[in-house]
Amino acid sequence: MIALIWAEDQNGLIGRAGQLPWHLPADLQRFKRLTTAHDVVMGRKTFAGFQRPLPRRTNWVLSRQELVLPAGVQRLADLDALRALDAQHPEQLTFVIGGAQVFKAVLPLAKRLYRTRIDHAFTGDTWMPTVDYAQWQLTAHQAGLSDERNPYPFSFDDFERR
Ligand SMILES: NC(=O)c1ccc[n+]([C@@H]2O[C@H](COP(=O)([O-])OP(=O)(O)OC[C@H]3O[C@@H](n4cnc5c(N)ncnc54)[C@H](OP(=O)(O)O)[C@@H]3O)[C@@H](O)[C@H]2O)c1
Repeated sequence: MIALIWAEDQNGLIGRAGQLPWHLPADLQRFKRLTTAHDVVMGRKTFAGFQRPLPRRTNWVLSRQELVLPAGVQRLADLDALRALDAQHPEQLTFVIGGAQVFKAVLPLAKRLYRTRIDHAFTGDTWMPTVDYAQWQLTAHQAGLSDERNPYPFSFDDFERR
């Protein structure tokens, strides 16, 4: 089952200069907890920001180009390849982790969403594509705990496709 996971600010911003616009350790912890041991699929530009595979996950990079990738990272050439990967283990989650181009392409295939909303306006250059929430049922909501290391108000929302 394909799930999207992302964090956005109050204006839907998700990226700045190839990176996240914020540092929010509580969100990184949730991301790690949810995605560890799963397949993670990301766009070529998002992977360029990481430079190395995410540990303890099977890393896939979507790209239409032949890429030289580090050990432990494999390419998916198109959405059909992603469908085939997901079909190998339909009972498990395949996490699509961004960025904007990939979220837009994969949204029609997704059955679950994990959204972090940060109630703050950051500056950046990349936004989440429009999600029609009428097609999604909210299944969980959790307010984040702000503290010195996580200074912005934030919340986690999970959705299932209706
Ligand atoms: N806040 C968050 O949760 C979050 C999560 C992830 C990323 N981000 C941010 O988002 C930004 C990057 O996003 P982006 O939209 O610029 O790039 P991206 O989605 O990471 O990567 C785009 C690339 O993915 C490949 N691609 C996209 N659709 C494809 C398809 N249908 N089939 C095959 N390949 C496909 C293409 O690679 P080729 O050009 O090589 O063909 C395309 O150029 C960064 O700032 C990053 O930090 C934020």
